[in-house]
Amino acid sequence: MLDKIKEHLEEISKINLNGQEELESFRLRYLSKKGIISELFEEFRNVPPEHKKEVGQRLNELKQKAQERYDSAKETRKSTEVVSGEHDLTRPAFPYPEGTRHPISIVRKEIIGIFSRIGFTVSEGPEIEDDAHVFSKLNFAPEHPARDMQDTFYIYRVSSEDSNPDDILLRTHTSSVQVRVMENQKPPLRTISPGRVFRNEAISARAHCIFHQIEGLYIDENVSFADLKQTLTFFARELFGKETKIRLRPSYFPFTEPSAEMDVSCTICGGKGCNVCKYTGWLELLGCGMVHPNVLEASNIDSKKYTGFAFGMGIERAAMLKYQVNDLRLYFENDLRFLDQFRTAL
Ligand code: DAH
Repeated sequence: MLDKIKEHLEEISKINLNGQEELESFRLRYLSKKGIISELFEEFRNVPPEHKKEVGQRLNELKQKAQERYDSAKETRKSTEVVSGEHDLTRPAFPYPEGTRHPISIVRKEIIGIFSRIGFTVSEGPEIEDDAHVFSKLNFAPEHPARDMQDTFYIYRVSSEDSNPDDILLRTHTSSVQVRVMENQKPPLRTISPGRVFRNEAISARAHCIFHQIEGLYIDENVSFADLKQTLTFFARELFGKETKIRLRPSYFPFTEPSAEMDVSCTICGGKGCNVCKYTGWLELLGCGMVHPNVLEASNIDSKKYTGFAFGMGIERAAMLKYQVNDLRLYFENDLRFLDQFRTAL
């Protein structure tokens, strides 16, 4: 009997137990009620008492080894099953929570979508810029007080007193991309430029040192103020709804002449007057105007032949009007309770 047990021990250690069928036939052969081990225990009754101890030990060893072999083969099989996907394919997937788009991304995407439907391309420029692209070539004279309209983060100043076209700074507006486009492409030009801008301002509900803008530029022969007005009317109606009205108020920017600021009819009360529009019926949205001839010439575009319009808006501002979220800081804090409210189809 000892020899038999020894043979079985050898068989168990060598046997291949990879497939489901092999596992099952192993179980039947060794571990089932009518299997070899049960049979051996039956036989064990007839072993003479003087051999019972030794045979008993070997038999228990066999039983244990067979069970171990079976259990570990089954375990391995289970884990490979999961990997190879042989298990229940109808089981639901793991419930990973889905993220949401940030409200600024939603609005940016929507604005880009509106302008691309009327033929505007998207262009981008660097966030670290020189004075030439942010100011000089946009017709800001060296000591012009208009430079103070935007508090600038300087990275490197060529001279400590005067501003210089070679000064390096963080762009304060996306109007710098207008210049890059005009330098690198020939009219007709029709492009919008979304991006981050930086201003040295104390952070509050109404101001932030980083925010987002979208710039628009259209240059061709015979572009008129009427084209600007029509484009912006279309844009406002697409973004805020068909009933939206716009109004243009005279304003000043060095790079446009004439310049205007555009208001849209209040997105809450529709123009009747409420506390969001401070009972004026209007909300300010963007700056715009006809591109100043000096700006065209600074980028080698013939201002006798070409005219153009430009506009620039804050994306946070557009998002505020769309979602009535009036504290700018919320757009930067990444508080999931805030962001989770913007699950949209976009
Ligand atoms: N760059 C201006 C700002 O940041 C916005 C602006 C106004 C852009 C008028 C324009 C424009 O292109 O024509 O305040």
